Amino acid sequence: MIVEGGKRRIPRLVLSLGLMALFVVAAVLIGLPQSIGLHRPRLDLLAAQPLKIQIHVGAALLAFCLGLVLFAAPKGTLPHRTLGWIWVIFMTTVAVSSLFITSLNGNAYSWIHMLSGYVLITLPAGVIAARRHRVLMHQRAMTGMFLGGMVIAGAFTFFPGRLMWRVIMG
Ligand code: HEM
Repeated sequence: MIVEGGKRRIPRLVLSLGLMALFVVAAVLIGLPQSIGLHRPRLDLLAAQPLKIQIHVGAALLAFCLGLVLFAAPKGTLPHRTLGWIWVIFMTTVAVSSLFITSLNGNAYSWIHMLSGYVLITLPAGVIAARRHRVLMHQRAMTGMFLGGMVIAGAFTFFPGRLMWRVIMG
């Protein structure tokens, strides 16, 4: 949260992502997708996946939502630290589980696995920076992982042909 002239402002990016997420949830709840010919998310496709993919997707979606809260809420407080540790656990789960998933490139790792390596290195670096009160380094590490990891990797998973695309559109 940015403090300006005594007033607290939520960063624009967080506000936009949060509003988009709210819009999607509200649209699904009121049945908007069905009214324009789309169907409900095919959760059966997710249920049919191996446990490693279910764990990966579950942890990723939780990390995305919690990440938005962490960006918007005051920093350095006890709730920030507690939720921050929970976010670290979710992100570790996302990155470690992804090491067992090879669906895009036959049985071999694909370029997306570079992101898993990036997260597994940057995550402890970001935590160590926070513990040493290196605020800027901590902020850069966590923001980079959220934008690069969650937003970009997350958006790629909704590309045609991939599982999340089929869950929403298939
Ligand atoms: C909202 C965020 C995310 C969602 C919904 C998501 C979802 C998925 C799904 C459904 C798969 C397997 C099926 C497919 O390829 O379509 C997958 C694979 C993968 N994900 Fe994610 N993911 C997210 C974030 C991340 C992040 C942050 C990382 C890196 C730390 C990551 C790394 C990977 C990797 C390496 C694979 C395997 C790609 C391959 O088969 O070569 N994902 N993800």
